Amino acid sequence: MAESRGQFSTRTGFILAAAGSAVGLGNIWKFPYLVGENGGAVFLIIYLGFIFTIGLSVMLAEFAIGRIGERNPVGAFAHLKGGPWTAVGYMGVFTGFVILSFYSVVGGWTIAYAFKMASGLLSLGDPKALGDAFGAFIGDPVEPIFYHALFMILTGAVVARGIGTGIERACNILMPVLFVLLVVLCVRSITLPGAAAGIAFFLQPDFSKINPAMVIAALGHAFFSLSLGMGAMITYGSYISRQTNLPRAALWVTSLDTLIAVLAGFLILPAVFAFGFDPGAGPGLTFITLPAVFSKMPLGAFFGTLFFVLLGVAALTSAMSLLEVVVSFLVDEKGLQRRKAVLAAGTAIFLLGVPSSLSLGVWSGFTIAGKGFFDVADYLASNILLPTGGIFISIFVGWVVFPKIMDGDNGGIGDEFRWAGVWRIICRYVAPAAIAWVLVSGL
Ligand code: TRP
Repeated sequence: MAESRGQFSTRTGFILAAAGSAVGLGNIWKFPYLVGENGGAVFLIIYLGFIFTIGLSVMLAEFAIGRIGERNPVGAFAHLKGGPWTAVGYMGVFTGFVILSFYSVVGGWTIAYAFKMASGLLSLGDPKALGDAFGAFIGDPVEPIFYHALFMILTGAVVARGIGTGIERACNILMPVLFVLLVVLCVRSITLPGAAAGIAFFLQPDFSKINPAMVIAALGHAFFSLSLGMGAMITYGSYISRQTNLPRAALWVTSLDTLIAVLAGFLILPAVFAFGFDPGAGPGLTFITLPAVFSKMPLGAFFGTLFFVLLGVAALTSAMSLLEVVVSFLVDEKGLQRRKAVLAAGTAIFLLGVPSSLSLGVWSGFTIAGKGFFDVADYLASNILLPTGGIFISIFVGWVVFPKIMDGDNGGIGDEFRWAGVWRIICRYVAPAAIAWVLVSGL
């Protein structure tokens, strides 16, 4: 089986692909507004704490399950242990389905904004008008759904071909370009008059602001941003060559993802304060703030267009990994042809995304527990399903298959891993207990 499925050719190729999954809208769109909604620096600290303990450990667990399981999440659990453990794989497929439904809506916004930047959005001038334009756009019953469809079609087109060398090679060029552009934009944002308040908000913690909701949001986002808890990294892990050092790869992917998120914070938050926006404005924050930054730059329309194209590509490489989980399940376990699986899954996910998009406009009056459909899908998937998946993945590795996972001759991690003892303790006790505690205290 391993031969026919193909492998990443180099360690770097694999790390970039996994980083391509991890780095996406979560880093640049979601992270800054979560920091804004959740009191700034305290959220950042809690988030970093989760990332480098639980996040790193679960990522290693997923890579290892994938490499020795050599299958999609459902197949990998069935193959390694079977029984009720297979349900963890099913939960992952379901979660991928839900996440992609609203992810694609936001992915559509990035495409739309690339076009809008190119066709004179910035002539609106002041930040306030840009904010109103964004609100009118996402509230429209037709336009964002059109772009949501376009984003799903692009994602499906790539996944239908298998994750071939084309997109992999494209990412290897585009991701570094995105990175450079982010750094340039950060400099512009930090040097805006009034930016200091935003930097202080991002870096100076006010510990009196800690509350359970923020801790859940930080944990949920750690999973979301690293693409953990639903088997995306199990699927990618199934393509890693046996020579690759898994702990080092996990550390690389985690660090790259964190770096990009922190850069996005330094891009968005200073500008938010400089332009007098509300940091708690929610999902629209990034899309309102960024155009305002571009309007204060020479060649703003050019850089703005470039930026949204690159953000769209980053979103696409993440969306691919979400769709790939659902599709590889349908192909491996249900025997569907790849193209049919893409068509079926893509259509269903598109349809589930429609109410998410409408909930930001014409259906905004329709709420569940005070949240619109978009927020419900996001909250359920990110803050409940992903951490729950994380509990089971940790327990599975820590208690059920640990010797197999460490067995280097079998595709496992191998005994040159010096932190195996610590890692085992985290998987056995720390991660499950901490995640469960956060979940319970939040409900
Ligand atoms: N991590 C991606 C982002 O930050 C989103 C993503 C891709 C994801 N695959 C995932 C989230 C799997 C959770 C699970 O944008």
